[in-house]
Amino acid sequence: MLNLNFNPFPELKTERLLLRQVLPADAESLMKIRGNEEAMRYIPRPRSKTVEDASAMIEVLTSGITEGKSINWAISNIEDPLQIFGMIGYVNFYPEQCKAEIGYMLHPDYWGKGYVPEAILEVEKFGFEQINLEIIEAKIDPRNDNSRKILLRNHYQFDRLVEKEMTFQEEEIDSEYYIKNKQ
Ligand SMILES: CC(C)(COP(=O)(O)OP(=O)(O)OC[C@H]1O[C@@H](n2cnc3c(N)ncnc32)[C@H](O)[C@@H]1OP(=O)(O)O)[C@@H](O)C(=O)NCCC(=O)NCCS
Repeated sequence: MLNLNFNPFPELKTERLLLRQVLPADAESLMKIRGNEEAMRYIPRPRSKTVEDASAMIEVLTSGITEGKSINWAISNIEDPLQIFGMIGYVNFYPEQCKAEIGYMLHPDYWGKGYVPEAILEVEKFGFEQINLEIIEAKIDPRNDNSRKILLRNHYQFDRLVEKEMTFQEEEIDSEYYIKNKQ
């Protein structure tokens, strides 16, 4: 059975990063991340264009945690935890399959430094060891080469392609699914 109790919030540390809860005070930073066109290119969700949009998103993230429906960590530098520049987490749980969908993103100023590959290791460890997941699934837009690269390097296996899975802003979007099983 999955353990979806995230109270108290489980902060995670890596060599360079502190992964912590997204707080109301992060609204402006979150707006810069979720409002960035380049960062959102392959994420079929409305952009957070204002601080109010970002605050509303933080409320949704917080209730996901409280209700055990999702968990997202803000990505910050361990030496500057107030400044968040990305997010990583389990955006959906499928308890009957002991499975979760992982998601991640960084502001483009922070790309190419290996931050998500570093964070994903701790988030996976938490998922397999604390939440009791058997399978972690990742869904990407097939055009998202940077995200695929991370998954393949981190030993995810291609599972399936779903063509025209959804329509976003009048565009039909395909999805590639990748999975990693508990060792
Ligand atoms: C996908 C993403 C999370 C990668 O995270 P990251 O911490 O930058 O990962 P890495 O440092 O390992 O870089 C991965 C690849 O990104 C590419 N990359 C790095 N910096 C880049 C830049 N400034 N511009 C374009 N691509 C860049 C490189 O191809 C790199 O591969 P390499 O190591 O062979 O050079 C990040 O690009 C991102 O946040 N993208 C937008 C959000 C997104 O698409 N999330 C995934 C949704 S499924």
